[in-house]
Amino acid sequence: MRDLAYINGEFVELDQATVSIEDRGFQFGDSIYEVIKLYDGELFALEEHLKRMLTGIEEIGINLDYNIEELKEICQKVVAKNAKNPKVESGSLYIQITRGEAPRNHSFASDLAPTIIMYLLPAKSLDNQLRKEGVKAITVPDQRWDLCNVKSTNLLPNILSKQTAKQKNVKEAILVNEEDIVTEGSSSNVFIVKDGIIKTHPATQIILGGITRDLVLALATNNFSVAAEKFTREDLYQADEVFITSTTKEVLGVVEVDNKIISNGKVGEITKELHTDYQDYIYDWKQRGDSNV
Ligand code: PDD
Repeated sequence: MRDLAYINGEFVELDQATVSIEDRGFQFGDSIYEVIKLYDGELFALEEHLKRMLTGIEEIGINLDYNIEELKEICQKVVAKNAKNPKVESGSLYIQITRGEAPRNHSFASDLAPTIIMYLLPAKSLDNQLRKEGVKAITVPDQRWDLCNVKSTNLLPNILSKQTAKQKNVKEAILVNEEDIVTEGSSSNVFIVKDGIIKTHPATQIILGGITRDLVLALATNNFSVAAEKFTREDLYQADEVFITSTTKEVLGVVEVDNKIISNGKVGEITKELHTDYQDYIYDWKQRGDSNV
């Protein structure tokens, strides 16, 4: 089974794939990334992920010469090159584009050649029982900057928050800012349902506007009241339902936050319905054989 990684136009075995120690992505986290889920060998929401990535690249001024169609082609090539690899069936495509390699200096030349890498990640195993029963979470202070809409690899606050969650034996760390507003999860978007209304933080610069979040919101408007509105930590505790969304988790019920049971402690009916709608959507998309969502 071949596990081929793409680096700047070349394919190499994953365990042989290296970048320079003077790559700015390595030294400064000066880079943008994406994680795109594969369903039966097809990249889901490829266009949406690449659009978000190009917006981030523009925002931080990486000198990338590729347009969306050219990037799509490379992504498809990575999948095709790894055709027999089980990761193609249910894993994800990881993309990282760094500002490039240069002698270490905080400031940078505007014409550096970016480093582009892509490779496949294995499927994240989420126990079926856990999906059925829902997961636990904690809240932690949101210690990030004001450009969280840029999916940069500067993830220290996120990884330390997730590690705290892991140490407490829960699945996600929910980030709460200085105004006690729930922004998002360390690697997911957070939703509540209260009195039939589905709420999630508006897609401002203090959250990452998730591709899954957008699709779930669009699907939810067919049957429910939806509001992209701020809510507090207390609203989270008092919610009828809580769920998180991400490319790899899809729609996942949260039944306990900070040791407080949410509602009756079971995954909510609206959460379940939205996950079913999400999976139906993926099924229909596969039937259509369309590369767009
Ligand atoms: N993380 N918010 C944050 C901070 C995230 O890191 C992610 C995803 C999301 C959800 O975005 P999307 O629906 O587009 O996956 C929200 C990815 C999966 C990761 O870092 O592995």
